[in-house]
Amino acid sequence: MSEALQRSALSLSNVRAGYGETTILEDVSFSLPERGSLAILGRNGVGKTTLLATIMGHTTFQSGEVKFLEKRIENQAVYERSRAGIGYVPQDRLVFPSLSVEENLTVAARSGRWNLERVYDLFPRLSERKHHGGNQISGGEQQMLAIGRALMGNPTLLLMDEPLEGLAPIIVEMLLKALKRLISEDSLAVVLVEQHAKLALQVTRTALVMRRGKIVHEGASDALLANPERLADLVMAQ
Ligand SMILES: Nc1ncnc2c1ncn2[C@@H]1O[C@H](COP(=O)(O)OP(=O)(O)OP(=O)(O)O)[C@@H](O)[C@H]1O
Ligand SMILES: [Mg+2]
Repeated sequence: MSEALQRSALSLSNVRAGYGETTILEDVSFSLPERGSLAILGRNGVGKTTLLATIMGHTTFQSGEVKFLEKRIENQAVYERSRAGIGYVPQDRLVFPSLSVEENLTVAARSGRWNLERVYDLFPRLSERKHHGGNQISGGEQQMLAIGRALMGNPTLLLMDEPLEGLAPIIVEMLLKALKRLISEDSLAVVLVEQHAKLALQVTRTALVMRRGKIVHEGASDALLANPERLADLVMAQ
């Protein structure tokens, strides 16, 4: 099926948002088809987290439109967006320290294609650690747990904020493999915010680059990956 005929999972038009009176995002527009995958790149402080937080409803929405599965959601509460099928893996992971790995996974589970068995198949490490406390596992395992927990909510759209940040190379490899599998096999759309531009471009179909709250580039991930000079120029320039 061509993308033109596909429903969009997510689309933003002329979004302006920030914190209280402060505007961070300006004139942000893009769309992502169902089952699509999008990398959001850019340096520290350009507004990547603010963009995901705005899609989820955590910021002050100033103007524009946000549509999820073709329906306007910008006035919906966070829990309504989450219940409608938007999964969010925040930058700080927010694993519950006093619950076990398995309890963390089941606490917000909703019925659907994802269950404990499938999450453990995607992340065998979590299966090995299922009785450990959320505070007894490594940073990489916490990241797997945060992603696994979001999947247990059976989202149609999964937003991930720098899942590779601060992890050892071997764990990054493991997570990338899982993300690739998720993106190619599962029926969900993925938005991946990353500072590791090359890694994010390897697993996504399309990419956009932000600078000072605006989108300065949008295109195919493989084209950007094939042009390292352009990539450096876009991501590094302020
Ligand atoms: N709660 C907040 N209140 C006011 N301003 C904020 C708040 N959170 C972030 N900002 C500001 O919004 C701008 C964008 O920050 P944001 O966290 O979205 O960037 P980012 O691209 O995610 O950066 P990083 O790569 O470091 O995570 C920054 O100037 C930041 O200082
Ligand atoms: Mg951020």
